[in-house]
Amino acid sequence: MRVHNFNAGPAILPEAALAQASEAVKEFNGLGMSILEISHRSKDFQAVMDEAGQLVLENLKLDPSYKVLFLQGGASTQFAMVPMNLLNSGDVAGYVNTGTWAKKAIKEAKLFGKTEVLASSDGSNFSYIPKGFAIPENLRYLHLTSNNTIYGTQYMEYPDSPVPVVIDMSSDIFSRNVNYGQFDLIYAGAQKNLGPAGVTLVIIKDGLLRESDHALPSMLNYQTHIEGGSMYNTPPVFSIYVCLLTLRWLRDNGGAAAMEVMNQRKAAKLYAEIDRNSMFKGTVAVEDRSIMNVNFIMENRDLEPAFLQFTKEHQCVGLNGHRSVGGFRASIYNALPESSVDHLVGLMQEFESKNA
Ligand SMILES: Cc1ncc(COP(=O)(O)O)c(C=O)c1O
Repeated sequence: MRVHNFNAGPAILPEAALAQASEAVKEFNGLGMSILEISHRSKDFQAVMDEAGQLVLENLKLDPSYKVLFLQGGASTQFAMVPMNLLNSGDVAGYVNTGTWAKKAIKEAKLFGKTEVLASSDGSNFSYIPKGFAIPENLRYLHLTSNNTIYGTQYMEYPDSPVPVVIDMSSDIFSRNVNYGQFDLIYAGAQKNLGPAGVTLVIIKDGLLRESDHALPSMLNYQTHIEGGSMYNTPPVFSIYVCLLTLRWLRDNGGAAAMEVMNQRKAAKLYAEIDRNSMFKGTVAVEDRSIMNVNFIMENRDLEPAFLQFTKEHQCVGLNGHRSVGGFRASIYNALPESSVDHLVGLMQEFESKNA
């Protein structure tokens, strides 16, 4: 039996993708060997890479002027690769500090150039998304974290930027039908809405990169990976294959637009229960509530271990909040069925009727 998987990442994947992946581990494409054993230079794997790249563009409604890369090192390596590749001497990058991941991105950018923090919700424990801040026109780029996985806040609308926008979409890519064409560079660790850990999606708009005025290690140079078609070195073959299976599932289930409808419905149900139930409360500004990571606490915080235990006894996994914030976090990514949200809502109601 599958559990109700509310893990924040690595997280739940579509069952259809898991079933096909497990077959491919045994034998891939009738080749007499496993996907784990084939050469990344084989035509069978080239077909995987090509289709995965095309499906990224298709699912995000982006044109082929965007380059799609499947890299390693997690989104955390992108925190450094972005400024390393984009900032030349004298350039300034603008960042918005919306929590742990944004702070890490800022820390890395400072190693490579001048950074300006244009806005921050640090003062209120990152419980909201700053709005209405000025974006100087002389910036090389503006960096945003689309969804703050730890705090449970998400941009509902992105700022209108006069400069190129670089965005960390690790925890909400493919979850909404936003205009992805407003971004110049998108990056995302795969292990939430896309696939297993071990691969990072990077999408770069034509014309964003320029000649760098400093030396870049080959592996940390976007140009290397564009020229090598994400195969300058051995790519994470199996992780990319599972991404392909998830991307096919996404396309076959109506793409980001259909996911948004379902994700909005799941989130609305859960937030409605948090607001209605006398024992629970939300932790972030209502207008910035994430539809991917739903954070909440109990009115009586002493009861939190008991509720967590209760959910575990009822086949729920991963509901504890991030170790830095506590409370609860229900991650309700694309592949999480609505029935899992219904199950959790039922448990909250049952706990209330027994304990309130
Ligand atoms: C928004 C966001 N950015 C970056 C990261 C770091 O990703 P990785 O572990 O792939 O380096 C995470 C991980 O959860 C995240 O949620």
